[in-house]
Amino acid sequence: ELPKYVKVVEVGPRDGLQNERVIVPTDIKIEFINQLSQTGLSVIEVTSFVSSRWVPQMFDHAEVMKGIRQYPGIRYPVLTPNLQGFHRAVAAGATEISVFGAASESFSKKNINCSIEESMGKFEEVIKSAAQMNIPARGYVSCALGCPYEGSITPQKVAEVSKRLYGMGCYEISLGDTTGVGTPGSMKRMLECVMKEIPPAALAVHCHDTYGQALANILTALQMGVNVVDSAVSGLGGCPYARGASGNVATEDLIYMLHGLGIDTGVNLYKVMEAGDFICKAVNRTTNSKVAQASFSA
Ligand code: HMG
Ligand code: MG
Repeated sequence: ELPKYVKVVEVGPRDGLQNERVIVPTDIKIEFINQLSQTGLSVIEVTSFVSSRWVPQMFDHAEVMKGIRQYPGIRYPVLTPNLQGFHRAVAAGATEISVFGAASESFSKKNINCSIEESMGKFEEVIKSAAQMNIPARGYVSCALGCPYEGSITPQKVAEVSKRLYGMGCYEISLGDTTGVGTPGSMKRMLECVMKEIPPAALAVHCHDTYGQALANILTALQMGVNVVDSAVSGLGGCPYARGASGNVATEDLIYMLHGLGIDTGVNLYKVMEAGDFICKAVNRTTNSKVAQASFSA
């Protein structure tokens, strides 16, 4: 049975922009996020407090965090890989954070420059400090359906890393198909294994659409009891440490599917398309959203 309501986590300002080569001006990022705040979305991931030597696009994380208008009822999480990032995020006004681990040893090394085991130590420090300040922490697990360096990843490994993050106090675990290689088959097998450790209500899926499987994979997850889905307006996105990975599932396409299924999201599709149009023009790209393409050409 499908959920009645799905929480959509908009990752466009972070995942969507982190892979753009040309640096997007800070005021455009702020305007983009302020527009997203008018769409009915309840969670908007703002930026990452990572090293700008690693991800140049996120250099202005503090300015963006300070510059956006924070509306009541909307949450504005940011990525924090370690205590340094966490303290900077808090200083800039962040009230929710995410740590980001991986189920692949090679991806962990490439992405955050440490082993899975080392990353768990750093995340634990961040989550503990956050808890003391009543700051909720979310946990990402990348490579949940495959790794750009190692190929297939076992569901057991995904479950193990997820369980550790959940045990540390992450309120939600977002399972990332980083390179979009998963299918409804591998999604089902992975979730069956992870759900032995974590209740479905504490899981989210984060699907990149590289192989065109994202909506099918998401529907599979919904049928299994997941009711939180990450997406990026216009289907922007990709990870700089997962070469060839294309954008996230487009928020417009996700909302269209959910509403078509009679699932409530609280999100206004038309306003999301307007925000998508704004950011596409700003980064000089055509939208990856099929729904936006169809609507704007109609
Ligand atoms: P490191 O080099 O191992 O860090 O990088 P370090 O602790 O050894 O410090 C080295 C230097 O980095 C020092 O500066 C630190 O101050 C600085 P120096 O003294 O040499 O001038 N540093 C920092 N600067 C800013 N913010 C920080 C920070 N920490 C240390 N937080 C680090 C480790 C994690 C920082 C680095 O590897 C990094 O920034 N990686 C970026 C990873 C990233 O953002 N990836 C994309 C997001 S994940 C993703 O997209 C996947 C997801 O969407 C889910 C999915 O799709 O699967 C979430
Ligand atoms: Mg991602």
